[in-house]
Amino acid sequence: MSSVYRQINELKEQLEYHNYRYYVLDDPEVPDSVYDKLMKSLMALEEAYPEYLSQNSPSQKVGGYALRSFSEVVHQQPMRSLANGFSKEELEGFDRRIKEGVGQDESLIRYVAEPKLDGLAVSLRYENGWLVQAATRGDGKTGENITQNMRKVLGGATQLKGDSVPQVVEIRGEVFMTKENFSKLNNIQRRKEKKLFANPRNAAAGSLRQLDPAITKARPLNIYCYALGEVIGAEIPSTHWESLEWIRALGLPVTSLAKLVDGVEGALEYYNHILDQRDDLPFDIDGVVYKVSRLDWQNDLGFTAKAPRWALAHKFPAEEEITTVENIEIQVGRTGAITPVARLKPVFVGGVTVSNATLHNQQEMSRLDIRIGDHVIVRRAGDVIPEVVSVVLSQRPDDVRYFVFPKTCPVCESPVVSEEGGVIARCSGGLFCSAQKKESIKHFASRKAMDIEGLGNKLVDQLVDDKLIDDVADLYSLSVETISSMERMAEKSANNLFQALEASKQTTLARFLYALGIPLVGETTAETLSLYLGDLAAVMSADEEQLINIPDIGPVVSLSVMAFFEQPHNKAVIEKLLAVGVSWPPVEKITEMGESIFSNKTVVLTGSLSMPRSDAKALLKSLGAKVTSSVSSKTDYLIAGEDAGSKMDKAQQLSVEVLDETEFLRLSSSDVSTLGHVPED
Ligand code: IVH
Repeated sequence: MSSVYRQINELKEQLEYHNYRYYVLDDPEVPDSVYDKLMKSLMALEEAYPEYLSQNSPSQKVGGYALRSFSEVVHQQPMRSLANGFSKEELEGFDRRIKEGVGQDESLIRYVAEPKLDGLAVSLRYENGWLVQAATRGDGKTGENITQNMRKVLGGATQLKGDSVPQVVEIRGEVFMTKENFSKLNNIQRRKEKKLFANPRNAAAGSLRQLDPAITKARPLNIYCYALGEVIGAEIPSTHWESLEWIRALGLPVTSLAKLVDGVEGALEYYNHILDQRDDLPFDIDGVVYKVSRLDWQNDLGFTAKAPRWALAHKFPAEEEITTVENIEIQVGRTGAITPVARLKPVFVGGVTVSNATLHNQQEMSRLDIRIGDHVIVRRAGDVIPEVVSVVLSQRPDDVRYFVFPKTCPVCESPVVSEEGGVIARCSGGLFCSAQKKESIKHFASRKAMDIEGLGNKLVDQLVDDKLIDDVADLYSLSVETISSMERMAEKSANNLFQALEASKQTTLARFLYALGIPLVGETTAETLSLYLGDLAAVMSADEEQLINIPDIGPVVSLSVMAFFEQPHNKAVIEKLLAVGVSWPPVEKITEMGESIFSNKTVVLTGSLSMPRSDAKALLKSLGAKVTSSVSSKTDYLIAGEDAGSKMDKAQQLSVEVLDETEFLRLSSSDVSTLGHVPED
C-alpha cells in the first residue's frame, strides 16, 4: 500500500471520528481549527492524487448522521455545507471563480454578507402557514425529526405571518444559544453536578436534540434564518437579499447584521467590521458568509459534492487550539489566592502566542482531569485570559504525571486555607508572604492604579528580594543611587523611574483607592466609592449602611472595604503614603440619586472627554446606565467627545441619539421630572 494511500485513510478515519463526536454526540474533542487542518490536508492529498478520491470521503459528504432515536426526515432539497476560506487570497479566488462562472469580468459581484453563526442547522417546513416539520441537517440528505422541540424554540413563529404566506415553504436557519444563556445553563449544570457544555454550540445542539421536548423548552435557544429551501405556490424572489426580507416578513428572525456588499473590497470591509464586534456580540460566530445575491446566478453556479459554489464561509482566526501541558505551577496572587497555571507548549491562538493558561482552582482541575503531559484545548477569546477548556483524553500519553495541589504556600510555606466551600485556596501568610507583597506592589504601580512607568515586575521582585522595600510606601523613599545599583538599571532609566515615582504622587482618589488593592474593589468600584463618598476619610470611616446604599456596592464588598481599613497595617501604609506627598484634587461628590434619563439605558462613549473615561463610565453606571463598547441598534445614547470617529458614523446610520459632553453632564445632574417630558397621549 502506498504511503499516500495510508495517509489519506488515516485522515479519513480521524475526520470520521471527529464528525461523530461533533454531529452525533454533540461533544467534540478537538477545536474546529484542528478539524479544519485535517480536512485541508485530506483535500490537498485528494487533489494531488485523484485516484484515491472516493465518494465516501469526508471531503465529499456533509459531516452528520441522523440519530436513530429520532424519526428520519428526507430533505426535499439537500442541506449542504459551506466551503471555507481563511484568507484574503482565498476570498479573491472565490470571487474570481464567481466572475468567471457568471461571465462578469468587469463589474463587481454583489454579495449578501452574513455572520456565520456557530450553532446547528435546521430546516423548517411550513404548509399553509403552519409548521409541519422541523429537521436537523443530519448527513445533508436525511435529518432527524425535531418538530416537537422546534415548536418550543419557535414559540409564536410556528405560524407564519403576513399576506405572502405560500402553500409550502422550507426555511433554513441556525439554532444557537447566546453566550449569556450558555453561562447561565452551565452554572445550573455545575450546581447540579452535571456535565458542563464546552461551548454555546454544544449546549444548543445538546438542548435541541433532546428526546423530551420539555427539556428543550427549559433551555433558552434562539434561531436566525438564512435561506429558503423548497417553495410551492409563491414566486421565489430574484435575489438572496429579497429572500431574507421575505423570511423576515413571514415572521421569522433574520439577523440585522446581514448586509449587501460589493466585490472583494466590500466583503473584506464587512469581515473586519464583524471581527471587531465579535466579542461584543451576544452570540458566538466563527466567521462570516458571503453569498452571491442573484438567485439566477446561484443557479448557474450550482454545487460541488457538498457545498454551493456561490457561497464562501470566511472564517475568523481560531479562538481555540490544541497544545500540550509542559508543567503545572502555582501562582500566588496579591490577596493570596492560589491559582494553578498550566505552562504550555507555545501555541498561536486568538491572535497571540499563548504559553500559560489558568486552571482557575482545584475543583476545575479535577473537573478537567488534567495531568502534566496531556494534550489540551486552550481558548483565548478577546482579552479574556487564556484558559484550558478540555483535555483530549483519547490522545493522553502513557507517561502523564499527576499534579498534587499544595497544602502550604510554595513561596512562604504558610498553610493554604480554603474559602467559599473549597473553591478558593488562599495562602494565609498575608504580607509576610513575599509573593503577596510583590503582587500588591506590582498592582499599586500598574497603569490603571498609580501608573508608575518603568517599574517592571522583575524590578519589583528584585527590590523585595533585596529587602530594599517592604511595602508600597517604601517605593517613594528609594533614591536614584539605590535604583541605579539594581541589576540592568542604567543611570538614565533609574532617573526616569525616579521621576515617574515623583509624578505618580499626583493622582486621583479613585486611582489611589484602586491602587491600595482592597479585595473585591476593582477600578469601577473604586470610582464609585470616590464619587459617592468624596474623600479618603469618608471612605475609611464609612459604615456598612453607608456603603451598601451606594449603587452597585453590596454587603460582601462593603465588608471587604471595612475590613481593609480596620487593619492597622493598612492604615499605617496609607499614612506613610500621604506623608510622602501622595495627593489628589478634591472630588465632586454625587449627592443624590434621582431617576435619571440614563436609567436602564445602553450608552456608548467615544472620542476624548475632558474627564477620564473611567469617571464617565462610573457616573453613567451610578445613574443606572449600561455602558457598552460598540454602537448597535440596542444603543440608546452615544456620548461623543472630541474627535469622535467611526462610532459616531455608526450612531448616525442607526439614528442613535448623540450627546456631547456638556449635554451629558447637564442630563446626568438633572432629575427626569425636570426634563420637560412630553406627555404621551
Ligand atoms: S448557508 C447551502 N448561512 O454553517 C448553504 N449557513 O458550514 C447553506 N451557518 O450548515 C448554509 N451561519 O449550519 C449559511 N449565515 C449562514 C450561516 C450558516 C451558520 C452554518 C450552517 C451550515 C454550516 C456550514
